[in-house]
Amino acid sequence: MSDIALAVIGGTGVYKLAELEGIERRLVDTPFGAPSDAVVDGWLNGRRVLFLARHGEGHALCPHEINYRANLWALKSLGAKSVLAINSVGGISDNMGPKVLAVPDQIIDYTWGRAHTCFGAGGTVEHVDMGEPYDAALRARILAAAAAAGVAMVDGGCYGATQGPRLETAAEIRRLHRDGCDLVGMTGMPEAGLARELGLAYACIAVVANWAAGRGDAAEITLEEVLANMAEATAQLPAVLAAMLG
Ligand code: HPA
Repeated sequence: MSDIALAVIGGTGVYKLAELEGIERRLVDTPFGAPSDAVVDGWLNGRRVLFLARHGEGHALCPHEINYRANLWALKSLGAKSVLAINSVGGISDNMGPKVLAVPDQIIDYTWGRAHTCFGAGGTVEHVDMGEPYDAALRARILAAAAAAGVAMVDGGCYGATQGPRLETAAEIRRLHRDGCDLVGMTGMPEAGLARELGLAYACIAVVANWAAGRGDAAEITLEEVLANMAEATAQLPAVLAAMLG
């Protein structure tokens, strides 16, 4: 079997990679239970790629119901070394309007009650370094591929990970902004921390689906708006992936 060139975790609006060829669906059992879905193992540009739908088939799992540990463990056990996470987010900063693609370089965790570590429970205890939460080389690879593919991508930004599944209040978004967050999403953590614990190189493409609460002119954030913006923005991702695997 060839080495895995990349593993991709798809978020809201990204439930498969249509370009993957020769696919096999792998049902993986992990010490933490079952992943969100079967891992799709296939080929893109002649390179072996894994894909996992974070919310499962038919988007059945809320952000707090996702078994992040099992997802990352499954990808690692199949041989992944690098994980590209695709996350739908709301935009907080002025340069993060709907349909923007961004590669964040920092994250703040506001989630609670999620299984957020692979350590403990009588096993080993380690405190992994998280100063730079995203892998620098993988971020650079994403940004270089986007540039080569002619796809605009914002380099950097701080992702605020909230609990969901409800959207935030305008006051919560103002607080996130004061804290330095440029983007808000519900699935960036504990995924990034677990990837670091498991020794996986991890980076994120954040796809801005809407202005966060209180930031745009819209009276309300609607699902139609979110899905339409996601569809338009994610249409650019196959070209970026192809360039990453060139
Ligand atoms: N907030 C949190 N998560 C999100 C949003 C949002 O506004 N949009 C898409 N994911």
